[in-house]
Amino acid sequence: MGGDIPPPVDELAAVSLTNDEASSSTVQKARFSDRVRIQSILGRPDGGAGLAGQKVRISGWVKTGREQGKGAFAFLEVNDGSCPANLQVMVDASVSDLSKLIATGTCVTVDGYLKLPPEGKGTKQKIELSVVEVIDLGTVDPGTYPIPKTKLTLERLREFLHLRARTNSISAIARIRHALAIATHTFFDEEGFLYVQTPIITTSDCEGAGEMFQVTTLISTTEKLERELIENPPPTEADVEAARFVVKERGEAVAELKAAKASKEAILASVAELNDAKANFAATEARSRLKPGLPKVDGKIDYSQDFFGRQAFLTVSGQLQVETYACGLSDVYTFGPTFRAENSHTSRHLAEFWMVEPELAFADLEDDMNCAEAYVKYMCKWLLEKRYDDMELMAKNFDKGCIDRLKLVASTPFGRLTYTEAIKILEEAVAKGKNFDNAVEWGIDLASEHERYLTEVVFQKPLIVYNYPKGIKAFYMRLNDDGKTVAAMDVLVPKVGELIGGSQREERIDVIMERLEEIGLPVEPYEWYLDLRRYGTAKHSGFGLGFERMVLFATGMDNIRDVIPFPRYPGRADL
Ligand code: 4AD
Ligand code: MG
Repeated sequence: MGGDIPPPVDELAAVSLTNDEASSSTVQKARFSDRVRIQSILGRPDGGAGLAGQKVRISGWVKTGREQGKGAFAFLEVNDGSCPANLQVMVDASVSDLSKLIATGTCVTVDGYLKLPPEGKGTKQKIELSVVEVIDLGTVDPGTYPIPKTKLTLERLREFLHLRARTNSISAIARIRHALAIATHTFFDEEGFLYVQTPIITTSDCEGAGEMFQVTTLISTTEKLERELIENPPPTEADVEAARFVVKERGEAVAELKAAKASKEAILASVAELNDAKANFAATEARSRLKPGLPKVDGKIDYSQDFFGRQAFLTVSGQLQVETYACGLSDVYTFGPTFRAENSHTSRHLAEFWMVEPELAFADLEDDMNCAEAYVKYMCKWLLEKRYDDMELMAKNFDKGCIDRLKLVASTPFGRLTYTEAIKILEEAVAKGKNFDNAVEWGIDLASEHERYLTEVVFQKPLIVYNYPKGIKAFYMRLNDDGKTVAAMDVLVPKVGELIGGSQREERIDVIMERLEEIGLPVEPYEWYLDLRRYGTAKHSGFGLGFERMVLFATGMDNIRDVIPFPRYPGRADL
């Protein structure tokens, strides 16, 4: 446990700088721009003080600006998104028209000298910039700019997805999200897992829950055809007959010429005319068969005419496909967007979310749980090391306990208990007077309120519940010897509830075939998946971590719509 304590805050603030950069008195330019990132000034252990006297160019957006000294100079708080802190920028009225600079949202690129702020003003700033030239300006009309200096609610900000990245909170979340993604790749890379890209468009339903978005071009092609048929009505039966008659006539003409032993040229010309007539007849007949509406056979939509020649969907999980690589490359993971058309209006569900799905060959449920726990702990430590500044912002603005929570999770073993034990605990709670909206009995799918009670009230730390009743879990989970439960596991965490769902996979061909039948799923679409069991089957396990739920858990934000840049949920898909 001891080794998990993060280094002191001062050190943490400087994490993105190399030792050389942090101790040097020359400032590092951004490599692909002539400006200096504000983070490489303020993120140093000395807060930038050691850079006093340096001339730098910085760029960013004005958070707040105010004229002072009766308009003699202006102070701007400038942020470029590289860190939560703003650089204080001082502009003299002799340098620029101050009135154009001070509106919140204004974009500035300025050259100036870094200097120590006057002593005794009690400012937190260790360094400020005194501007000598305004290089570039993107002005803002404060009358119409939708993101004012005064804070908007997160809910209101969702109406300005295209501008909300300029706010402290959304930009801090973006940096935390980035750090969690890099932590993910680093963790799995260090553990020898290969990153595999699974398809977004799929023809298999992994979870069998029927919550898939369909991918089709049938609707747009049908609409196009319907428009075209109105503009250009299809041939009538009489038109088809007329075309057929021309073919007959031309055929007879050819026969007559041949009988009359006409010249080769004359016969060839006549045959060419016949061929034209035949082509025209075929086209006329084909067009006469065009009908408005979706193509159908036997009353059902004819997907053989769809883009892929069959029904296709957006994936709900890359698991089934990533298993094919696990059963060949051993340890793999996929990390990509997944889609669920569930009509959930909760603060924990999105229609489009990202999932991290490792798949471990030659691993059982316990190995799977160990991997999940190690991975979540790794991410928590990573954030404490790499983004302490942003975590402090989250603690200040949203959730006082979020840093302690990361520390706790990084250093404390997760609780582990079977589903049956979990039900027992819940039943005891009910017996003692605890009220749940959803009744508790063996066989139910744990509701979010049950999950959160277990992790927040009973255990007060992350928890892994395993061996769930087979009736509430997917067909691919390995049947336990009791015949009633499957080797499934869910990781539950405070604030969020279910963070991870995973299982050991059923590797026995006869058992999985029985499960498909029991559940009433057709075998044909899963034949390729069954082949993995037919040929060289291997014990294997995996899980899926909801990436946005991890960001929620880490940041302490309340709504999942605020931890993904472009949230999609029922009724909403902006941008
Ligand atoms: O538990 P789920 O449905 O598991 C699977 O899809 C497995 N195929 C994963 C695997 O074994 N490879 O989903 C996994 C996680 C959940 O625990 C939850 O964190 C998240 O995905 N999740 C959602 N996150 C946001 N919005 C939704 N609508 C979500 N549905 C699931
Ligand atoms: Mg689940």
